[in-house]
Amino acid sequence: MKILFIIFLLTTSIYGYDKFFGSNNCAQCHTKQYNNWKASPHYKADEKLTEKQKKNPKCISCHQPSKDKGVSCESCHGNGQHYAKTFVMKDKKLSKMVGLKKVNQQTCNKCHNKYTTKGKKDIKLFKDICGKK
Ligand code: HEC
Ligand code: HEC
Ligand code: HEC
Ligand code: HEC
Repeated sequence: MKILFIIFLLTTSIYGYDKFFGSNNCAQCHTKQYNNWKASPHYKADEKLTEKQKKNPKCISCHQPSKDKGVSCESCHGNGQHYAKTFVMKDKKLSKMVGLKKVNQQTCNKCHNKYTTKGKKDIKLFKDICGKK
């Protein structure tokens, strides 16, 4: 049964439909990270935009890249529909195969770059917002 399910996950993650899972749903298992994220500027990243700016694809690409709130869990970790299951998450290789991304300096640089006023953000700054305490 499990092996069939894994094959199903791999197939749909290659030929996938919408793989969006939702930060509220990640919270079921990751309360600590969820609470840290909710208190972080990333959660609020859409709030400073006017209604008109929220319709501008350029602004949205950094301030609210998915239908989730602000810069969501999945904006950094990758869309979670397929990996957000306990037995998948416990298997680091399988998680990566079905969408979990390694968060590295490149991830931050996509949005924090020379076009934003304050430039690059060192990933070490992030350890107290998500991840390590
Ligand atoms: C049903 C419970 C569950 C859900 C839902 C869930 N996770 Fe997990 N997650 C886990 C478990 C269990 C682990 C593994 C913990 C361990 O073994 O260290 C894990 C590990 C992780 C890790 C660490 C992986 C690593 O390489 O160390 C990240 C990042 C993560 N989850 C992100 C997410 C995100 C983002 C979501 C929502 C899209 C999510 N998880 C949804 C249970 C869940
Ligand atoms: C390449 C990614 C990116 C794009 C595109 C982008 N922003 Fe931002 N924006 C950021 C980042 C990152 C910050 C956080 C501050 C910083 O590092 O400059 C920010 C900060 C802001 C702030 C808060 C400034 C402050 O001082 O608190 C506002 C308002 C804002 N952006 C509006 C917009 C609008 C409107 C657009 C579309 C015209 C836009 N942004 C496009 C990444 C982006
Ligand atoms: C999808 C785009 C996006 C990604 C990816 C992203 N950020 Fe941000 N980040 C933003 C936006 C937009 C803001 C501004 C929020 C606001 O002020 O409303 C912000 C704000 C911040 C802030 C607080 C504002 C400041 O200038 O001090 C820090 C720190 C930060 N990000 C660090 C990081 C780090 C580290 C990473 C990589 C792990 C990262 N971000 C990845 C878009 C992003
Ligand atoms: C701006 C990027 C960013 C966002 C948004 C973000 N994370 Fe993370 N997350 C990181 C980084 C960076 C790490 C530490 C490095 C690593 O493990 O890849 C991390 C680590 C983790 C871990 C590993 C366990 C740990 O404590 O190290 C889990 C689980 C996790 N995040 C879940 C989430 C969940 C759930 C959300 C949304 C509620 C979220 N993250 C939002 C960047 C982000």
